Amino acid sequence: MKVDLLVHSVTQLCTIPPHEGGPQRGAALGDLGLIEDGAVAVKDGRVVAVGPTAEVRAQVSAAAREMDASGRVVCPGFVDPHTHLVWMGDRAAEFEMRLAGATYLEIMAAGGGIMSTVRATRGAPVESLVAAMRPRLDRMLAHGSTTVEVKTGYGLETATELRLLEAIVTLDREHPVTLVPTFLGAHAIPEEYRGRAESYVALVVEEMLPAVAEKSRELGLSSLPFCDVFCEEGAFDLRQTRRILAAAQDLGFPLKVHVDEFKALGGARLAVELGAISADHLVTTAPEELALLGSSATVAVSLPCTPFGLGHSAYTPARALLEAGAALALATDCNPGTAWNESIPFVIALACRYLRLTPRQSLVAATLNAAFALQLGERVGSLSPGYAGDLLVLDVPDYRYLGYRFGANPVALVVKGGEVVCGK
Ligand code: NIG
Ligand code: FE
Repeated sequence: MKVDLLVHSVTQLCTIPPHEGGPQRGAALGDLGLIEDGAVAVKDGRVVAVGPTAEVRAQVSAAAREMDASGRVVCPGFVDPHTHLVWMGDRAAEFEMRLAGATYLEIMAAGGGIMSTVRATRGAPVESLVAAMRPRLDRMLAHGSTTVEVKTGYGLETATELRLLEAIVTLDREHPVTLVPTFLGAHAIPEEYRGRAESYVALVVEEMLPAVAEKSRELGLSSLPFCDVFCEEGAFDLRQTRRILAAAQDLGFPLKVHVDEFKALGGARLAVELGAISADHLVTTAPEELALLGSSATVAVSLPCTPFGLGHSAYTPARALLEAGAALALATDCNPGTAWNESIPFVIALACRYLRLTPRQSLVAATLNAAFALQLGERVGSLSPGYAGDLLVLDVPDYRYLGYRFGANPVALVVKGGEVVCGK
């Protein structure tokens, strides 16, 4: 067989196999499918052979490009299933206010927080939004992310929300990283609706959701984006969250929900009840709801950069989620307010310390399980035959360096669909 790319002699090849075609759940999380002196071959963008170098070489008659990865680790490209990458301005002044003692929810209640980014973002044309996003996405790619979810949510008015969606789709088409869009019109109650939250919920349900569905068709998307809601004190309560998500589901949107970042409102139970694809944050979730997630198909997405970014000490009770049998994934939550970080390796370093995951558990949570949080787990996140040829060559001799070392970038080379897109 002739192939486009052969990566061989890999000291540790982490293939990250799906379990029964699904994510790695509960106590089974952390199966690296590790092959020593391994090789992987990619043809037409997909993995066509994987195994010990000698066995793969026996199947490959010629390779357009060969790479020797001795002394190195190879794994699937990282999947970042929760980001707010499209925003204008910054919140450096709020960071300083928080260091002086103000809390995130206090700043938000005073008209800062998400609303201050909304003020900076409204009015920006699509090209400016794309230009603001591009260097962030370049950094994500350099740190190994090959598939990234991006939420709207800094428009909070129909026209701007649609521009944010268009910016995400535009950048997806010009950048090697695959972007997966999410509509988050219910990110905050905008200031012009202060005291009229129900009217804003009605706007989201009656005007924005149909407009987003229409715009998605116009942009040529093959499926609707996800619909997400920030279910939180000071944002959307449980009843409002249910109303928005149920309306979105009726229109065919797959669902995600921000739940239990600060206050536990019962959002995880709602996510399971509605069959949401993921429930994200999960810091203050009640034990009964952790159990519900454990026996559901809803992926639990933990975002350790957020408590870290806020200087909080409470993180997702990841071990309890795993004991309950949950499918756990990791993401950056990259956003200007709580967590401006583009690096999945840094997320893994935090997960090892504050979620008490092992490097192998973290690696699966940031690849295969993260892909399932985007309904892509049958196509990306693993180096099994048929999966996308998205892979990383890490300039480290052992996968445990992920987590162990931090602050420097371990990613030497990024391959997307069989082509080197970063590094050499
Ligand atoms: O996931 N929780 C809501 N959204 C972000 C914060 C966004 C912001 O503060 O701008 C989060 O933490
Ligand atoms: Fe978020």
